Amino acid sequence: MNIIVTGGAGFIGGNFCHYMTGKYPEDTIICIDKLTYAGNMETLAPIMEKPNFRFIRADIADRDAIYKIFEEEAPDIVVNFAAESHVDRSITDPEVFLRTNIIGTSVMLDACRKYGIKRYHQVSTDEVYGDLPLDRPDLFFTEETPIHTSSPYSASKASADLLVQAYARTYKLPCTISRCSNNYGPYHFPEKLIPLMIANALNDKELPVYGKGENVRDWLYVEDHCIAIDLIIRKGTPGEVYNIGGHNEKTNLEVVKTVLAQLGKSEDLITYVTDRPGHDMRYAIDPSKIHKELGWLPATPFEQGIKKTIDWYLENREWWENIISGEYANYYEKMYGNR
Ligand code: NAD
Ligand code: DAU
Repeated sequence: MNIIVTGGAGFIGGNFCHYMTGKYPEDTIICIDKLTYAGNMETLAPIMEKPNFRFIRADIADRDAIYKIFEEEAPDIVVNFAAESHVDRSITDPEVFLRTNIIGTSVMLDACRKYGIKRYHQVSTDEVYGDLPLDRPDLFFTEETPIHTSSPYSASKASADLLVQAYARTYKLPCTISRCSNNYGPYHFPEKLIPLMIANALNDKELPVYGKGENVRDWLYVEDHCIAIDLIIRKGTPGEVYNIGGHNEKTNLEVVKTVLAQLGKSEDLITYVTDRPGHDMRYAIDPSKIHKELGWLPATPFEQGIKKTIDWYLENREWWENIISGEYANYYEKMYGNR
């Protein structure tokens, strides 16, 4: 099979390309990525020479470029990871989120209609459900939870989901959607909580915790997300949404203290900074549908996953030091300078 993976030079798409090229030598993985600030060819370096992998630089919102790729590659399956993914950036500059996350998704769907496809899979997020209160630990997001977004990022992802569902119903396009909780693991861009805290701690820099650090996220090791998507594209029912998460809720402060403890650094590095506007309080996924229907359960407990992740950042300093020594320094100053 020919499988197009968009956004494969990013964090989760990159891990997915590694996973799929290793697991299915008989399939061809064609990675399409625009290489924005978040795309990194170093992430793909370990698989670039594999005979079942190809990389094409293209923008998913560029209709001509995408149609040409579909004509040439005749994909059986498309997995759409490509997105602007950082909530804080969406608050300062929403427009590019609308272009990539909504228009880009519509171009991918149109290409699937025009050229025919066995499955289109949209990689969505639990953020489309909004947030849950901290004082109701009995509540979880199910696939029936209404869409209720908070940030321009989540609004753009929810818009894309609605388009996918419209194409599935109106044009009978065989689509699936997955909505996953927060991922962590290797190749995670250091603007996000866990890699940012690891990089700052290793450099003995302050660790900027938003508000009181009491917000809760439901952390999943990235390979478990890749395994779930692979199951959905092969065995999931077209037209269905699948939540992915591992009942692994932690406050941000717990996560930051775990990172500091593992690195043997002092908690004095923690600095409380101005909160994110509209900051979602708690995300928590009910993954019973994907468990019952497809037999998926997360394989990596947080204690094991965070150790593997920290070890990866220690062993691959060049990967993240190259990032934080470039344009990232301007981003960091703009985002945290006067916070
Ligand atoms: P990322 O920011 O690390 O990577 C995004 C990739 O998409 C980059 O390689 C970038 O170059 C590429 N890209 C951006 N705009 C593009 C365009 N117009 N055309 C082609 N490529 C483009 O993101 P991530 O954290 O790996 O997230 C991947 C997907 O998973 C996103 O759709 C995100 O919404 C979703 N998701 C992420 C998480 C998480 O915790 N990171 C959780 C649930 C869902
Ligand atoms: O839930 C899935 C989502 O998880 C994905 O859809 C997004 O693409 C992904 O970026 C992530 O969104 P979050 O906003 O939850 O992730 P982030 O790493 O930006 O922040 C995690 C929590 O940590 C959040 O409550 C904000 C807080 N935070 C973040 C940063 C970068 C801090 O306290 N300090 C920081 O410097």
